[in-house]
Amino acid sequence: MTTEEYGFDSALSRWGTGCLKYDKLKDRFGSEKLHPMWVADMDFASPACVREAIAARLNHPILGYSVLPDDFIPSIMDWVMTHHQWKLQPEWITYIPGIVKGIGMVINRFLQPGDKVIIQPPVYHPFRLVPEGNGMDVVYNPLRETSRGHYEMDFDNLEKVCDERCRLLILSNPHNPAGLTWSKEILQRLAQICEKHHLLVISDEIHCDMCLWGHKHVPYATVSPEAASHSITFGAPSKVFNIPGIVTSYAIVPNDVLRKKFYGWLEANEFNDPNMLAPLATIACYRKGEPWRRQMLKAIEDNILTLEDYCAKYVPRIRPIRPEASFLVWLDCRDLDIPSGSLGDAFIQAGLALNDGRMFGMEGKGFMRMNVGTTPALLMEGLEKMRAVFGN
Ligand SMILES: Cc1ncc(COP(=O)(O)O)c(C=O)c1O
Repeated sequence: MTTEEYGFDSALSRWGTGCLKYDKLKDRFGSEKLHPMWVADMDFASPACVREAIAARLNHPILGYSVLPDDFIPSIMDWVMTHHQWKLQPEWITYIPGIVKGIGMVINRFLQPGDKVIIQPPVYHPFRLVPEGNGMDVVYNPLRETSRGHYEMDFDNLEKVCDERCRLLILSNPHNPAGLTWSKEILQRLAQICEKHHLLVISDEIHCDMCLWGHKHVPYATVSPEAASHSITFGAPSKVFNIPGIVTSYAIVPNDVLRKKFYGWLEANEFNDPNMLAPLATIACYRKGEPWRRQMLKAIEDNILTLEDYCAKYVPRIRPIRPEASFLVWLDCRDLDIPSGSLGDAFIQAGLALNDGRMFGMEGKGFMRMNVGTTPALLMEGLEKMRAVFGN
């Protein structure tokens, strides 16, 4: 099937569907008359195979207690093996009801209030909010900007900030919002330091199936035996197949001791007990969704090329940093010379709802995050609004 046949070219109205991206515009940005390019889901119909699997189940009118379908775990194992060459054992895997919730669960199970959690901003804001909300101290190891909008991990600083109260490091792999994939060498170095300081690592790999232009995702737990033994990996079909409303994710824990402690607690609280639709959606994505995924990535690459071209021609003071993965583009807006704190408002004035870079940490000052998971026409509408206010 082509982009057109999957509907990546045709806009569907999302208004009035209880959709966060549109229906919460007024609450979040002060006006519903804005063009939404913010929260990280796509304006594309979810794959037909997923909707069919759910519809087939709903054809039976009794929605009683259900059992986990036999293929749930094997479908994850096969997907991860095929796409990331990581051979999982079935017992390493469990369902979790969302990755942000998973972070909260790990913190509640393994940490005590006052323990420290290390994050590497600019980074997905729940990495800060969840630990803080659970009484932890958040320690920052900011990414180092090597050239405009390009980053590397700061290992010297990581060594400096690690003390005996640091218990957990949360890794965004690939990295949101900078769009980075991390190499094996970088992850190995990170794993050495984390091992030395007895840190537990959460590797959030939700964006891993959206690598662009041949970039490769490296699962953290595969880079060394130490990384495997001190990490909890979170994965999900939700981001890549545009089904976050279904709430389906999973954890992978190779270390027996860690796993028993975490999964025993999940089980005791039934936190790993999915609703009946989540596993069906996961199986459909992983067994039948690959052609959709490939076309979707092509549509995203096309959109990023359009954005780059458009900015270079008409909005040269905004520089899109090309992501190596996912549909979120980090826009370097520092040449606009808009006073600190006013950039988000300037975009709202331009009629656009994007994420202000500052929400990902103060390192995001002067940046905006643009979601290009949309149709070419809607993308162009957003770009024209940007040009009208920030152009040449
Ligand atoms: C890095 C990262 N982790 C997690 C999430 C959300 O995951 P969930 O909806 O499973 O909590 C997102 C959503 O944008 C994300 O970018």
